[in-house]
Amino acid sequence: MKTHAHTRSADSYRDSMGQLLVLYTQVDRLIMEICAERIATAPDLDAKLALAKQVGDEGRHVLIQHDWMEQFGTTATPVISDRQEALIRSHFRELSWLEFLADMYLCVEALGSEAVENIVPLADPGTRESLHVPLSDEQDHIAFGMTRLRSELAQLPVAEREAFLAGIPQRIETLTNTFHGFGLDVADLFEGVGASYAALCEAVIRRRDEVLEQVAA
Ligand SMILES: [Fe+2]
Ligand SMILES: [Fe+2]
Repeated sequence: MKTHAHTRSADSYRDSMGQLLVLYTQVDRLIMEICAERIATAPDLDAKLALAKQVGDEGRHVLIQHDWMEQFGTTATPVISDRQEALIRSHFRELSWLEFLADMYLCVEALGSEAVENIVPLADPGTRESLHVPLSDEQDHIAFGMTRLRSELAQLPVAEREAFLAGIPQRIETLTNTFHGFGLDVADLFEGVGASYAALCEAVIRRRDEVLEQVAA
C-alpha cells in the first residue's frame, strides 16, 4: 500500500479516487434507470420485484456516494458523457431478458464490483465507509442475476443453452471494449489510487472465470 506522505502522490490519489467515485456513482445511477425501464417487460412478478428492489438500492447508493463526494471534495464533473450514457442505455434496451441477465449481472454487477472491491483496501477510511452499504447490496443483485440466469438456462434445450453459455465471454469482451473505448484512462486512475492495474485485471479475469463456471454448473 502507498503512503500519502508525498504531496504529489497525495494529489494524484485525491484526483484519481475523486474520478473513480464519480464514475461509480454515474454507473449506479445508470443501472437504476436501466433496471427501472426493465420492470415493465420482466417475465414474471419475482423478476419485477427484484428489479424494483435494485432500483431502490441503486438510488440509495447514488445518495450515499453524492454525500460522500461532497465531503471528499471531488468535482461532480461527469466521467462518462451524455452520449456515452445514451449508448449504454440503448444497448441494454435492445437485449432479450437472458442477454440482459448476462450483461447486467455477470458483467456490470459481478465484474464491476470485483474491480471496486479490489480498490477498497487501498482507499481512505471515508471512501471505504461510503462503499460498505453499496458493495453489500451489489452482492444481492449478483445473487439474483446469477440464480435467475442459471435457472432460465436450465429450461432451454441443451443446444440452445450451450450456445448461449459459449457466447457469454464474447458478450463480456464487447462490453469491456465499449467501456475502454470511452477514452477513460482506467489504468491511470487505478494506479493513481495505488492499485496495480495488472493485478486488478487478473482479479477481474479470475472472477469472470468463476462466475462463468457457476452459471454453467
Ligand atoms: Fe450500486
Ligand atoms: Fe447493483
